[in-house]
Amino acid sequence: MKRIKFYATTERGLEDLVAEDLKDQFNIKCAITDLRGKVFFEGAPRLIPLLNFAARSINRLVILLAYQKNISKLDEIKEITSEINWAEFIGKNQTFAVKSERVGYHDFTSLDMSRVIGKVIIDNIKKNTGQPVKVNLKKPDIRIIAELIKNTFVIGIDTSGLSLHIRRYRVYNHPLPLRTTLGYLLVRLSNWREEKILLDPTCGGGTIPIEAALFARRIPPVKFRGNEYMFYNLGIISSEMIAEIRNKIMEQMRLDKKLKIFCLDINPRHISGARDNATRANVNDTIIFLHGNAEHLSRYFKPHSIDTVIANPPYKVYPRERLIRFYRNFIKSLFEILSTGGRSIVISSEIKLLKDILNEMHSKFSIRKLFMYGRLLTGIFIIDKG
Ligand SMILES: C[S@@+](CC[C@H](N)C(=O)[O-])C[C@H]1O[C@@H](n2cnc3c(N)ncnc32)[C@H](O)[C@@H]1O
Repeated sequence: MKRIKFYATTERGLEDLVAEDLKDQFNIKCAITDLRGKVFFEGAPRLIPLLNFAARSINRLVILLAYQKNISKLDEIKEITSEINWAEFIGKNQTFAVKSERVGYHDFTSLDMSRVIGKVIIDNIKKNTGQPVKVNLKKPDIRIIAELIKNTFVIGIDTSGLSLHIRRYRVYNHPLPLRTTLGYLLVRLSNWREEKILLDPTCGGGTIPIEAALFARRIPPVKFRGNEYMFYNLGIISSEMIAEIRNKIMEQMRLDKKLKIFCLDINPRHISGARDNATRANVNDTIIFLHGNAEHLSRYFKPHSIDTVIANPPYKVYPRERLIRFYRNFIKSLFEILSTGGRSIVISSEIKLLKDILNEMHSKFSIRKLFMYGRLLTGIFIIDKG
Protein backbone atom coordinates (compact mmCIF):
# COMPACT_ATOMS: atom_id res chain seq x y z
CA MET A 1 0.00 0.00 0.00
CA LYS A 2 1.19 3.48 -0.82
CA ARG A 3 2.78 5.29 2.13
CA ILE A 4 2.47 9.04 2.48
CA LYS A 5 4.65 11.42 4.46
CA PHE A 6 2.82 13.82 6.74
CA TYR A 7 3.27 16.48 9.29
CA ALA A 8 0.75 17.65 11.86
CA THR A 9 0.86 21.04 13.52
CA THR A 10 0.49 22.10 17.13
CA GLU A 11 1.48 25.03 19.35
CA ARG A 12 5.26 25.52 19.37
CA GLY A 13 6.69 23.64 22.31
CA LEU A 14 3.92 21.04 22.59
CA GLU A 15 5.33 18.66 19.95
CA ASP A 16 6.16 15.86 22.41
CA LEU A 17 2.67 15.93 23.94
CA VAL A 18 1.10 15.59 20.49
CA ALA A 19 3.55 12.81 19.53
CA GLU A 20 2.56 10.91 22.69
CA ASP A 21 -1.12 11.40 21.95
CA LEU A 22 -0.84 10.21 18.32
CA LYS A 23 1.09 7.16 19.52
CA ASP A 24 -1.50 6.31 22.19
CA GLN A 25 -4.59 6.98 20.12
CA PHE A 26 -3.53 5.90 16.61
CA ASN A 27 -0.28 3.97 17.09
CA ILE A 28 1.54 6.55 14.99
CA LYS A 29 5.25 6.99 15.56
CA CYS A 30 6.18 10.65 15.14
CA ALA A 31 9.54 12.27 14.65
CA ILE A 32 10.23 15.66 16.19
CA THR A 33 12.79 17.82 14.39
CA ASP A 34 14.18 21.27 15.06
CA LEU A 35 11.17 22.72 13.20
CA ARG A 36 8.93 23.82 16.02
CA GLY A 37 5.17 23.30 16.05
CA LYS A 38 5.29 20.22 13.81
CA VAL A 39 5.49 16.46 14.23
CA PHE A 40 6.40 14.23 11.27
CA PHE A 41 5.26 10.71 10.43
CA GLU A 42 4.39 8.32 7.62
CA GLY A 43 1.32 6.23 6.94
CA ALA A 44 -1.38 5.05 4.60
CA PRO A 45 -3.74 7.49 2.78
CA ARG A 46 -6.52 6.46 5.19
CA LEU A 47 -4.78 8.52 7.88
CA ILE A 48 -6.03 11.62 6.07
CA PRO A 49 -9.72 11.16 6.92
CA LEU A 50 -8.96 9.28 10.13
CA LEU A 51 -6.83 12.00 11.75
CA ASN A 52 -8.91 14.88 10.44
CA PHE A 53 -12.08 13.27 11.80
CA ALA A 54 -10.83 11.85 15.06
CA ALA A 55 -7.52 13.37 16.26
CA ARG A 56 -8.09 15.78 19.14
CA SER A 57 -4.61 17.23 19.67
CA ILE A 58 -3.53 18.52 16.24
CA ASN A 59 -4.36 21.79 14.49
CA ARG A 60 -3.70 20.70 10.93
CA LEU A 61 -2.67 17.64 8.92
CA VAL A 62 -0.42 18.31 5.94
CA ILE A 63 0.86 15.92 3.24
CA LEU A 64 4.60 16.49 3.21
CA LEU A 65 6.02 16.82 -0.30
CA ALA A 66 9.54 18.05 0.46
CA TYR A 67 11.70 18.78 3.48
CA GLN A 68 15.08 20.20 2.58
CA LYS A 69 17.82 21.78 4.69
CA ASN A 70 20.46 24.35 3.62
CA ILE A 71 18.16 26.35 1.38
CA SER A 72 18.73 30.04 1.00
CA LYS A 73 17.82 30.95 -2.60
CA LEU A 74 14.59 31.20 -4.55
CA ASP A 75 16.17 29.16 -7.35
CA GLU A 76 16.68 26.27 -4.96
CA ILE A 77 13.01 26.44 -3.95
CA LYS A 78 12.07 26.49 -7.63
CA GLU A 79 14.17 23.40 -8.27
CA ILE A 80 12.71 21.42 -5.35
CA THR A 81 9.12 22.27 -6.27
CA SER A 82 9.73 21.43 -9.95
CA GLU A 83 10.50 17.84 -8.96
CA ILE A 84 7.00 17.31 -7.51
CA ASN A 85 4.33 15.82 -9.75
CA TRP A 86 1.64 18.39 -9.00
CA ALA A 87 -0.95 16.80 -11.29
CA GLU A 88 -1.16 13.96 -8.75
CA PHE A 89 -2.75 16.41 -6.29
CA ILE A 90 -4.38 19.13 -8.36
CA GLY A 91 -7.07 17.72 -10.62
CA LYS A 92 -8.64 18.87 -13.83
CA ASN A 93 -10.52 22.18 -13.41
CA GLN A 94 -9.36 22.54 -9.80
CA THR A 95 -7.95 25.79 -8.44
CA PHE A 96 -5.05 26.19 -6.05
CA ALA A 97 -3.33 28.72 -3.79
CA VAL A 98 0.14 28.79 -2.28
CA LYS A 99 0.49 30.14 1.25
CA SER A 100 4.09 30.90 2.10
CA GLU A 101 5.79 31.81 5.34
CA ARG A 102 9.37 32.78 5.94
CA VAL A 103 11.35 33.11 9.14
CA GLY A 104 14.92 34.50 9.14
CA TYR A 105 16.95 36.65 6.75
CA HIS A 106 16.57 36.06 3.01
CA ASP A 107 16.81 38.37 0.03
CA PHE A 108 13.23 37.64 -1.02
CA THR A 109 9.80 37.82 0.61
CA SER A 110 7.19 35.16 1.29
CA LEU A 111 5.16 36.65 -1.57
CA ASP A 112 8.10 35.99 -3.90
CA MET A 113 8.08 32.38 -2.71
CA SER A 114 4.35 32.01 -3.44
CA ARG A 115 4.78 33.57 -6.87
CA VAL A 116 7.70 31.29 -7.86
CA ILE A 117 6.04 28.13 -6.55
CA GLY A 118 2.70 29.07 -8.18
CA LYS A 119 4.40 29.45 -11.55
CA VAL A 120 6.19 26.11 -11.18
CA ILE A 121 2.85 24.42 -10.45
CA ILE A 122 1.08 26.00 -13.45
CA ASP A 123 3.96 25.06 -15.81
CA ASN A 124 4.32 21.56 -14.33
CA ILE A 125 0.62 20.70 -14.74
CA LYS A 126 0.47 22.17 -18.22
CA LYS A 127 3.51 20.11 -19.22
CA ASN A 128 2.25 16.84 -17.68
CA THR A 129 -1.43 17.00 -18.58
CA GLY A 130 -1.80 19.72 -21.19
CA GLN A 131 -4.46 21.25 -18.91
CA PRO A 132 -4.43 24.82 -17.67
CA VAL A 133 -4.80 25.32 -13.93
CA LYS A 134 -6.01 28.42 -12.13
CA VAL A 135 -5.06 30.22 -8.97
CA ASN A 136 -7.83 31.15 -6.52
CA LEU A 137 -6.41 32.85 -3.47
CA LYS A 138 -9.73 33.25 -1.67
CA LYS A 139 -11.31 29.85 -1.98
CA PRO A 140 -8.93 27.39 -3.58
CA ASP A 141 -9.74 23.71 -4.00
CA ILE A 142 -6.19 22.78 -3.06
CA ARG A 143 -4.02 24.75 -0.65
CA ILE A 144 -0.25 24.42 -0.69
CA ILE A 145 1.69 25.43 2.38
CA ALA A 146 5.33 26.43 1.88
CA GLU A 147 7.66 27.49 4.66
CA LEU A 148 11.25 28.57 4.78
CA ILE A 149 12.29 28.48 8.41
CA LYS A 150 15.79 29.97 8.47
CA ASN A 151 17.37 27.58 5.97
CA THR A 152 14.94 24.65 6.08
CA PHE A 153 12.35 24.49 3.35
CA VAL A 154 9.14 22.53 3.84
CA ILE A 155 6.28 22.25 1.39
CA GLY A 156 3.05 20.29 1.61
CA ILE A 157 -0.65 20.07 0.89
CA ASP A 158 -3.16 21.08 3.52
CA THR A 159 -5.75 18.37 4.15
CA SER A 160 -7.63 20.15 6.95
CA GLY A 161 -8.53 23.64 5.72
CA LEU A 162 -10.07 25.30 8.73
CA SER A 163 -7.82 24.60 11.73
CA LEU A 164 -8.88 21.45 13.55
CA HIS A 165 -8.99 23.28 16.88
CA ILE A 166 -12.21 24.82 15.58
CA ARG A 167 -14.59 22.11 16.66
CA ARG A 168 -17.86 23.87 15.80
CA TYR A 169 -19.60 23.08 19.09
CA ARG A 170 -18.84 26.53 20.52
CA VAL A 171 -22.06 28.45 20.35
CA TYR A 172 -20.94 30.71 23.21
CA ASN A 173 -17.64 32.50 22.73
CA HIS A 174 -15.80 33.22 25.96
CA PRO A 175 -13.51 36.28 25.62
CA LEU A 176 -10.39 34.28 26.54
CA PRO A 177 -11.08 30.71 25.52
CA LEU A 178 -8.49 27.98 25.68
CA ARG A 179 -7.78 26.22 22.41
CA THR A 180 -9.79 23.01 22.32
CA THR A 181 -6.70 21.02 21.27
CA LEU A 182 -4.81 22.37 24.28
CA GLY A 183 -7.75 21.70 26.61
CA TYR A 184 -7.71 18.10 25.43
CA LEU A 185 -3.92 17.80 25.94
CA LEU A 186 -4.34 19.03 29.52
CA VAL A 187 -6.95 16.34 30.14
CA ARG A 188 -4.47 13.74 28.86
CA LEU A 189 -1.68 15.14 31.06
CA SER A 190 -3.90 14.94 34.11
CA ASN A 191 -4.25 11.15 33.74
CA TRP A 192 -7.98 11.58 34.38
CA ARG A 193 -10.00 8.48 33.66
CA GLU A 194 -13.71 8.22 33.08
CA GLU A 195 -14.56 6.79 36.51
CA LYS A 196 -12.77 9.65 38.32
CA ILE A 197 -14.17 13.01 39.40
CA LEU A 198 -12.96 15.97 37.36
CA LEU A 199 -13.32 19.66 38.20
CA ASP A 200 -12.51 22.79 36.21
CA PRO A 201 -12.90 25.56 38.83
CA THR A 202 -12.45 28.50 36.40
CA CYS A 203 -14.19 26.92 33.45
CA GLY A 204 -15.19 29.95 31.34
CA GLY A 205 -16.93 28.59 28.24
CA GLY A 206 -16.29 25.04 29.42
CA THR A 207 -13.54 23.98 27.00
CA ILE A 208 -11.70 21.62 29.38
CA PRO A 209 -14.77 19.78 30.80
CA ILE A 210 -16.31 19.51 27.33
CA GLU A 211 -13.10 18.13 25.77
CA ALA A 212 -12.80 15.64 28.66
CA ALA A 213 -16.39 14.48 28.21
CA LEU A 214 -16.08 14.22 24.41
CA PHE A 215 -12.93 12.13 24.84
CA ALA A 216 -14.53 9.81 27.39
CA ARG A 217 -17.69 9.44 25.32
CA ARG A 218 -15.60 8.92 22.18
CA ILE A 219 -17.49 11.64 20.38
CA PRO A 220 -15.16 12.58 17.51
CA PRO A 221 -14.56 16.14 16.27
CA VAL A 222 -16.10 15.21 12.89
CA LYS A 223 -19.50 15.01 14.56
CA PHE A 224 -19.61 18.83 14.63
CA ARG A 225 -17.41 19.70 11.66
CA GLY A 226 -19.49 17.86 9.05
CA ASN A 227 -17.73 18.11 5.69
CA GLU A 228 -15.58 21.10 6.54
CA TYR A 229 -12.27 19.52 5.54
CA MET A 230 -10.10 20.35 2.59
CA PHE A 231 -9.18 16.73 1.82
CA TYR A 232 -12.61 16.22 0.23
CA ASN A 233 -11.10 18.03 -2.78
CA LEU A 234 -8.13 15.67 -3.00
CA GLY A 235 -8.55 12.92 -5.56
CA ILE A 236 -6.24 10.52 -3.73
CA ILE A 237 -8.87 9.24 -1.27
CA SER A 238 -12.10 7.66 -2.45
CA SER A 239 -15.44 8.77 -1.08
CA GLU A 240 -16.11 5.12 -0.10
CA MET A 241 -13.01 5.09 2.07
CA ILE A 242 -13.99 8.40 3.66
CA ALA A 243 -17.51 7.14 4.42
CA GLU A 244 -16.22 3.85 5.82
CA ILE A 245 -13.77 5.57 8.18
CA ARG A 246 -16.35 8.11 9.26
CA ASN A 247 -18.91 5.40 10.04
CA LYS A 248 -16.40 3.35 12.00
CA ILE A 249 -15.46 6.33 14.17
CA MET A 250 -19.09 7.31 14.76
CA GLU A 251 -20.02 3.74 15.75
CA GLN A 252 -17.62 3.95 18.68
CA MET A 253 -19.53 6.79 20.37
CA ARG A 254 -20.89 6.13 23.85
CA LEU A 255 -23.42 8.91 24.15
CA ASP A 256 -24.94 7.60 27.37
CA LYS A 257 -21.66 7.11 29.24
CA LYS A 258 -22.11 8.72 32.66
CA LEU A 259 -19.23 10.86 33.88
CA LYS A 260 -18.52 12.91 37.00
CA ILE A 261 -17.44 16.29 35.75
CA PHE A 262 -17.89 19.68 37.43
CA CYS A 263 -17.62 23.05 35.73
CA LEU A 264 -17.43 26.14 37.97
CA ASP A 265 -17.00 29.85 37.26
CA ILE A 266 -17.58 33.08 39.16
CA ASN A 267 -19.35 34.66 36.21
CA PRO A 268 -22.92 33.37 35.68
CA ARG A 269 -22.82 34.46 32.03
CA HIS A 270 -19.89 32.11 31.37
CA ILE A 271 -21.61 29.27 33.23
CA SER A 272 -24.68 29.69 31.09
CA GLY A 273 -22.47 29.85 27.96
CA ALA A 274 -20.56 26.74 29.02
CA ARG A 275 -23.89 24.95 29.41
CA ASP A 276 -24.90 26.01 25.89
CA ASN A 277 -21.58 24.77 24.49
CA ALA A 278 -21.93 21.47 26.34
CA THR A 279 -25.49 21.05 25.05
CA ARG A 280 -24.29 21.53 21.49
CA ALA A 281 -21.46 19.05 22.16
CA ASN A 282 -23.88 16.38 23.47
CA VAL A 283 -22.30 16.29 26.93
CA ASN A 284 -24.54 18.67 28.90
CA ASP A 285 -26.26 15.80 30.72
CA THR A 286 -23.02 14.59 32.28
CA ILE A 287 -21.46 17.87 33.45
CA ILE A 288 -22.60 19.69 36.59
CA PHE A 289 -22.41 23.46 36.19
CA LEU A 290 -21.86 25.57 39.28
CA HIS A 291 -21.78 29.28 39.79
CA GLY A 292 -19.11 29.75 42.44
CA ASN A 293 -15.76 31.07 43.58
CA ALA A 294 -12.55 29.07 43.02
CA GLU A 295 -11.06 30.78 46.06
CA HIS A 296 -13.45 28.86 48.31
CA LEU A 297 -13.85 25.44 46.72
CA SER A 298 -14.63 23.76 50.05
CA ARG A 299 -17.99 25.57 49.99
CA TYR A 300 -19.08 23.34 47.12
CA PHE A 301 -17.04 20.15 47.51
CA LYS A 302 -16.27 17.86 50.44
CA PRO A 303 -12.65 17.73 51.68
CA HIS A 304 -10.42 15.43 49.58
CA SER A 305 -13.31 14.47 47.32
CA ILE A 306 -12.01 15.50 43.88
CA ASP A 307 -9.55 13.29 41.98
CA THR A 308 -8.53 15.68 39.22
CA VAL A 309 -8.60 19.46 38.90
CA ILE A 310 -7.68 21.14 35.64
CA ALA A 311 -7.65 24.92 35.67
CA ASN A 312 -6.99 27.78 33.31
CA PRO A 313 -7.29 30.57 35.89
CA PRO A 314 -7.39 34.30 35.10
CA TYR A 315 -4.16 36.09 34.32
CA LYS A 316 -3.21 39.74 33.98
CA VAL A 317 -6.78 40.91 34.44
CA TYR A 318 -7.19 42.01 38.04
CA PRO A 319 -5.24 44.65 39.92
CA ARG A 320 -2.03 42.87 40.92
CA GLU A 321 -2.80 42.49 44.64
CA ARG A 322 -6.18 41.02 43.80
CA LEU A 323 -4.59 38.51 41.44
CA ILE A 324 -2.01 37.49 44.04
CA ARG A 325 -4.80 37.00 46.58
CA PHE A 326 -6.79 34.95 44.07
CA TYR A 327 -3.89 32.58 43.32
CA ARG A 328 -3.03 32.15 47.00
CA ASN A 329 -6.64 31.39 48.00
CA PHE A 330 -7.21 29.21 44.95
CA ILE A 331 -4.18 26.97 45.57
CA LYS A 332 -5.02 26.70 49.28
CA SER A 333 -8.61 25.74 48.50
CA LEU A 334 -7.46 23.35 45.75
CA PHE A 335 -5.46 21.34 48.28
CA GLU A 336 -8.48 21.16 50.60
CA ILE A 337 -10.69 19.43 48.07
CA LEU A 338 -8.11 17.39 46.09
CA SER A 339 -8.04 13.74 47.10
CA THR A 340 -4.88 12.10 48.40
CA GLY A 341 -3.00 10.92 45.32
CA GLY A 342 -5.00 13.43 43.26
CA ARG A 343 -3.52 15.56 40.51
CA SER A 344 -4.08 19.09 39.39
CA ILE A 345 -2.99 20.67 36.13
CA VAL A 346 -2.86 24.46 36.06
CA ILE A 347 -2.09 26.36 32.88
CA SER A 348 -1.14 29.96 33.46
CA SER A 349 1.13 32.74 32.30
CA GLU A 350 1.50 33.86 35.92
CA ILE A 351 4.49 31.54 36.12
CA LYS A 352 6.56 33.25 38.81
CA LEU A 353 3.56 34.01 40.99
CA LEU A 354 2.26 30.45 40.86
CA LYS A 355 5.72 29.00 41.45
CA ASP A 356 6.29 31.25 44.49
CA ILE A 357 2.92 30.35 46.00
CA LEU A 358 3.42 26.61 45.45
CA ASN A 359 6.89 26.81 47.01
CA GLU A 360 5.53 28.85 49.91
CA MET A 361 3.01 26.07 50.55
CA HIS A 362 5.69 23.35 50.19
CA SER A 363 3.67 21.71 47.43
CA LYS A 364 4.93 18.93 45.21
CA PHE A 365 4.83 20.30 41.68
CA SER A 366 6.66 20.41 38.38
CA ILE A 367 6.44 22.65 35.35
CA ARG A 368 5.81 20.20 32.54
CA LYS A 369 5.91 22.85 29.83
CA LEU A 370 6.96 26.42 29.26
CA PHE A 371 5.79 27.56 25.85
CA MET A 372 4.55 30.56 23.95
CA TYR A 373 0.77 30.52 23.92
CA GLY A 374 -0.07 33.37 21.60
CA ARG A 375 2.19 36.15 22.81
CA LEU A 376 2.47 34.99 26.39
CA LEU A 377 5.01 32.67 27.92
CA THR A 378 2.79 30.09 29.56
CA GLY A 379 3.47 27.28 31.98
CA ILE A 380 1.71 23.95 32.42
CA PHE A 381 2.04 23.04 36.09
CA ILE A 382 1.49 19.53 37.40
CA ILE A 383 0.62 19.55 41.07
CA ASP A 384 0.40 16.19 42.79
CA LYS A 385 -1.10 15.71 46.21
CA GLY A 386 0.85 12.99 48.02
C1 LIG B 1 -8.85 32.23 31.24
S1 LIG B 1 -10.52 32.15 31.59
C2 LIG B 1 -10.91 30.45 31.36
C3 LIG B 1 -11.29 30.13 29.95
C4 LIG B 1 -11.75 28.73 29.73
N1 LIG B 1 -10.71 27.75 29.92
C5 LIG B 1 -12.35 28.58 28.33
O1 LIG B 1 -11.79 27.87 27.50
O2 LIG B 1 -13.36 29.23 28.06
C6 LIG B 1 -10.58 32.35 33.30
C7 LIG B 1 -11.96 32.25 33.91
O3 LIG B 1 -11.83 32.35 35.33
C8 LIG B 1 -13.03 32.92 35.83
N2 LIG B 1 -12.76 33.41 37.20
C9 LIG B 1 -12.12 34.54 37.58
N3 LIG B 1 -12.08 34.61 38.93
C10 LIG B 1 -12.70 33.50 39.41
C11 LIG B 1 -12.99 32.99 40.69
N4 LIG B 1 -12.61 33.65 41.78
N5 LIG B 1 -13.64 31.82 40.78
C12 LIG B 1 -14.03 31.14 39.68
N6 LIG B 1 -13.81 31.58 38.44
C13 LIG B 1 -13.14 32.73 38.30
C14 LIG B 1 -13.36 33.99 34.82
O4 LIG B 1 -14.73 34.33 34.90
C15 LIG B 1 -12.94 33.33 33.51
O5 LIG B 1 -14.06 32.74 32.89
